[in-house]
Amino acid sequence: MKTFARALCGAVSMIAVTAAAPALAEPKAEVLHYWTSGGEAKAVQALQEAFAARGGEWVDAPVAGGGGDAQAAVLRARVLAGDPPAAVQIKGPNIQEWAEAGALGDLTAVATAQDWDKVLPEAIQNIVKYEGKYVAVPVNVHRVDWIWANPEVLAKVGAEVPTTWEEFNETADKLQAAGIIPLAHGGQPWQDATVFETVVLGIGGTDFYRKALVELDMDALGSDTMVAVFDQMRKMRGYVDPDFPGRDWNLATAMVMRGEAAMQIMGDWAKGEFAAAGKVPGVDYVCASTPSDNGYLLNSDSFAMFNVSGDDNVEGQAVLAELILGTEFQETFNLFKGSIPARTDVPRAEFDDCAIKSMDDMVAAAEGGTLLGSMAHEIAQAGAVRGAFIDVATAHFNSDMSSQDAVDQLVKAIKLAQ
Ligand code: BGC
Repeated sequence: MKTFARALCGAVSMIAVTAAAPALAEPKAEVLHYWTSGGEAKAVQALQEAFAARGGEWVDAPVAGGGGDAQAAVLRARVLAGDPPAAVQIKGPNIQEWAEAGALGDLTAVATAQDWDKVLPEAIQNIVKYEGKYVAVPVNVHRVDWIWANPEVLAKVGAEVPTTWEEFNETADKLQAAGIIPLAHGGQPWQDATVFETVVLGIGGTDFYRKALVELDMDALGSDTMVAVFDQMRKMRGYVDPDFPGRDWNLATAMVMRGEAAMQIMGDWAKGEFAAAGKVPGVDYVCASTPSDNGYLLNSDSFAMFNVSGDDNVEGQAVLAELILGTEFQETFNLFKGSIPARTDVPRAEFDDCAIKSMDDMVAAAEGGTLLGSMAHEIAQAGAVRGAFIDVATAHFNSDMSSQDAVDQLVKAIKLAQ
C-alpha cells in the first residue's frame, strides 16, 4: 500500500483546507464511507443533515461491506483514475500512508481555529496527524473488545456475562448443551480477526498483545502463548452456528437481539444496531468488556480530505472538517453510532452506561499503559501486515488447522509481509 499510494500521488503536493470561504463557493462534498447498516446509516445521515444545514451538497458514495476492506479497493481505483472523493472515511496507518503520498489536504487552519490540540486525546492526535499536521478529522472512538449479550438467554442457563475466558467457555458449553447458540458470529475474515484480537488480548494479556500485534515481535508471535490463543479460537469456532459463513456482522447482532444466540464479540458499532432497534442497555442487552487485564482496544473513525479541485469542493471539505469536530455534532453522531466522542469535552448526560464505561476505561487504560490499537480495525496495523494476520486467523478458524500450524504460518506470513 505504501508504495502504491506513493506511486499514485508522488508528485502531488498537499493542499490546504482553509477555514476561509472562497467568495460565492457552494460547499459540496462527495463522501466515501462504508456505513450501510441500520445504526451506521442513521449516524451518517446525521452528518449529511448537519452538512445540508450549512448549505452543503452531499454526494453519497457508500460501499457496502463491514470493516472497510471493500471500500479500500474503491478508494485506490478512484485515486488511480485521478478522481478521488472529497472526503473519505479512513483510519490508522492508512491516513499516514495517503498523507505521505501527498494525497491529503492539510487541516491546520480548521484545527487551529477549533483548538483540536486541546480537545483531542493524545492517542487520537497521533492517528490523525502526519508530520505534526492534522490531515484527518476524527469522528469517534470505537472500542473493539466488547461482549454484547442477551441477559434473558444467559439466564436460561443461570449465567451472567462471563468475566474470564474460563467462564466464557463454561457458559458457552452450558448454552450449547441447552440447544442455544453461544456465539453469534459472521464468518468474514475481518470478523474472525476481531474475535482473534480480543482473544490475544485476553489470553496473552496487554503486554503480549503489544509485543505480538503492535511490535510484531517474532518470539511473541511464535510463542506457546500464541498456541494457547489459537486453542481458544478453536473453542470459539465450536460455539458458532453452522450458518455463520459470510454473515454480515449486523445480522449476527440481530441474532442476539432476537434471543437466537446469547453473545456476540464485536466493537461498539454493534450498540448502534441495538439503539436503532430501540433496545435499552442493561435491560434488553448487556455490554461487558471481553476478559483482559484492563486492556482497551481502540479503533477510531475519521475523515481525510483528499486533494480535489474546484472552490465548491474545497469549501465543502472545510465545512465538513469544522462540523465533524463540533461538540454538538460529536454528541449526535456518536449516540447513533454506538461509539464515544473523539473530543473529551462533550457532555456525558445523554450517553448510556456502556458509553460511560468506554470513556472511563479509555482514560484508565491510557494512564495505565494498556490502551492498544486494534489490529483488525486498522489502527495498530494496516496493509500487508494486517492482511497477513487476518489471513491466518481466518484460515485457522475455517479449517481444522492445528494451533501449532497456525502459529508457524503466522510467523512466516508476518515476516513476509513486513
Ligand atoms: C469501523 C466502524 C464500522 C465497522 C463495521 C469498523 O472498522 O470503524 O465504523 O461501523 O467497522 O463496518
